Amino acid sequence: MRLGALLASAALIGACSQPAEEHNAIELDPESIVSGSRFLTAETQALQADDFANPGFLWVDRGEALFSEPTENGSACVACHEKGLPGVAATYPAFDTETNSVLNLEGRINQCRVKNQNAPELAYESDPLLSLTAYVAYQSRGALVSVDSSGPSRETYETGRQYFQTRRGQFNLSCQQCHTENWGKRLRGDTLSQGHGNGFPAYRLEWQSMGSLHRRLRDCDTGVRAEPLPYGDPLYIAVELYLAARSNELPLESPAIRR
Ligand code: HEC
Ligand code: HEC
Repeated sequence: MRLGALLASAALIGACSQPAEEHNAIELDPESIVSGSRFLTAETQALQADDFANPGFLWVDRGEALFSEPTENGSACVACHEKGLPGVAATYPAFDTETNSVLNLEGRINQCRVKNQNAPELAYESDPLLSLTAYVAYQSRGALVSVDSSGPSRETYETGRQYFQTRRGQFNLSCQQCHTENWGKRLRGDTLSQGHGNGFPAYRLEWQSMGSLHRRLRDCDTGVRAEPLPYGDPLYIAVELYLAARSNELPLESPAIRR
């Protein structure tokens, strides 16, 4: 069945069934895990691979500059992180014992700003936070996702898994139906990927900008006509953890290019 037909029938079913019902849980076959870049055109893949042409590097470069800039009342990131933060992004989201919660990379960077730089948090999706996140993520490019979803992170992981597997919106579709059950099929000019976060922050041609994973999740929720969650919402952080654990062993690609 073409996915357009799936969407059309899902909309019909959605009209007469309960919203937000949980769907049969299906996990990706670990043997089949592939990055979203696999489903891009050769031209877009080439743009991602070319560090001079890849527009994501505008953010990486701005992030690098910010990394060595002191704040008004504190030292620069580089003063404490002299060797940068290689490999760190591959381990996020991660449990933080100080706040007793799972933090994603954006949250961890903001925590360091407040605690170690005497500076206010940067707004989610603001250019400086995107740039710093892109720069830190870039230092893990090629590193394999290795996120811990056990122990104190387990509850958050389960919350994220449930969000992923629950139908929502007017189309009454779950993330799982598109990204676990139908990846590889065409949908409105895209080929559905498995929905991994390993390219983020990513430059989307449609946005003409770098954007966080949460921006992508908001687009997916909006796509099924569900109300998107606010940036940085704990529920999106839980989804982010589930996605990362689901993509363990996949190489990080940020700054990736996406359609
Ligand atoms: C109606 C189908 C559909 C649903 C439902 C859906 N998405 Fe997507 N999603 C897409 C399409 C289309 C894209 C862009 C092409 C691609 O990468 O799959 C995308 C992209 C993504 C990406 C980026 C992948 C990459 O490599 O760039 C992630 C992550 C993602 N979706 C996660 C989710 C999550 C989490 C949910 C549930 C909250 C969800 N999606 C629901 C269709 C869907
Ligand atoms: C005054 C020193 C100091 C400054 C300035 C500082 N950090 Fe940190 N950072 C630390 C210390 C110490 C830790 C680990 C302990 C902790 O949680 O504070 C850390 C931890 C981190 C981590 C988590 C590392 C991991 O392995 O999980 C990230 C990411 C990070 N910092 C990013 C930044 C960024 C980005 C900036 C600038 C915006 C910055 N830090 C500024 C001292 C600093």
